[in-house]
Amino acid sequence: MILVTGGAGFIGANFVIDWLTEGNEPVVNLDKLTYAGNLENLRPLQGDARHVFVQGDIGDRAVVDALLQQYRPRAIINFAAESHVDRSIHGPAEFIQTNVVGTFQLLEAVRAHWSQLPADEQAAFRFLHVSTDEVYGSLGAADPAFSEATPYAPNSPYSASKAASDHLVRAYHHTYGLPVLTTNCSNNYGPLQFPEKLIPLVIHNALAGRPLPIYGDGSNVRDWLYVGDHCSAIRRVLEAGRVGETYNIGGCNEKTNLEVVNALCAMLDERHPESPVMPHASLIAFVKDRPGHDRRYAIDARKIERELGWVPSETFESGIRKTVAWYLDNQDWVAHVTSGEYRNWVSRNYADHPA
Ligand code: NAD
Ligand code: TYD
Repeated sequence: MILVTGGAGFIGANFVIDWLTEGNEPVVNLDKLTYAGNLENLRPLQGDARHVFVQGDIGDRAVVDALLQQYRPRAIINFAAESHVDRSIHGPAEFIQTNVVGTFQLLEAVRAHWSQLPADEQAAFRFLHVSTDEVYGSLGAADPAFSEATPYAPNSPYSASKAASDHLVRAYHHTYGLPVLTTNCSNNYGPLQFPEKLIPLVIHNALAGRPLPIYGDGSNVRDWLYVGDHCSAIRRVLEAGRVGETYNIGGCNEKTNLEVVNALCAMLDERHPESPVMPHASLIAFVKDRPGHDRRYAIDARKIERELGWVPSETFESGIRKTVAWYLDNQDWVAHVTSGEYRNWVSRNYADHPA
């Protein structure tokens, strides 16, 4: 079986659901259930004996040691992290705690477990660390896209903490021989994304007739990838990636934030004309920029295509269509995850982003 960490969050839950749809290998899912983790994300797996959920922290050695001993997973896929840049600006401490110290503790537990395995199990074992393109910093308009050889230059507490974790993973391979793989992916979107991130936030606000906050002038660029494509890339890297290597994953879908928001508004106009405010684009509100806001991200995904034959299967248009449809069909989920703590976050964050 495999051990997934952070599998109640956005990408982790999509990964676990896809994994058990594509095959039959069981999953142990370790998640702390922070504000971003939600057992409702795993509802399709209720009663499925192939999925074992354990609430716990990747930084808790006793918990991780016990899981490794009990389940002897052949691979670990590490999604667990604090993941939102704006939250890292408001409170970086938890990012250091989970992304740096937590990953370190997890690596220590895995190293202890792996080093006493028989040689054949050691050789087959994999630790796949899921990371981000944000570790590479920010591109100018004419710069080439990030490749695996681009030097790290993280700019936010979030990206710095992810960069630190990537370095630890690399060092555990170089020093101890732990069979690691690292993936650096661009911005994801799709079902189950918490409505603090741009795409689900815009859908959620637009349906309620609330302003759609665009930081700065909306010309910052991200390279968008549908979450299902990220999951298929991770499965492929786990299956055939070369140990010790990193693989960049991206969708070749560079868009300005304004283009993304306009595309969402146009799709919502078509799909949901009964919204309180129409057209949805009339809700666009330019607000004070994010401090240190990275200008542009773009991924050169030629290595994973060349070595592993992976390419994304969704275009931006098809992925956005699926995503909008999912949010319209899952308003109960949205209502559930946006009650309570979410409201405090929205008022704290957007107080710093006046129009
Ligand atoms: P998310 O915030 O939606 O989910 C993170 C999950 O990790 C949550 O379920 C949370 O409860 C859990 N978690 C947090 N701290 C934990 C801890 N100490 N121990 C155990 N579990 C803990 O994040 P996401 O968007 O699904 O991102 C998953 C991973 O992918 C992260 O490592 C992130 O850096 C990376 N990534 C995300 C994107 C993106 O666009 N969302 C892009 C590239 C890479
Ligand atoms: P986000 O989804 O937070 O991802 P990241 O910062 O990791 O790229 O933001 C995506 C882009 O959208 C980023 O350039 C910041 C911008 N943004 C807004 O303009 N308004 C918002 O309310 C949010 C949350 C993000």
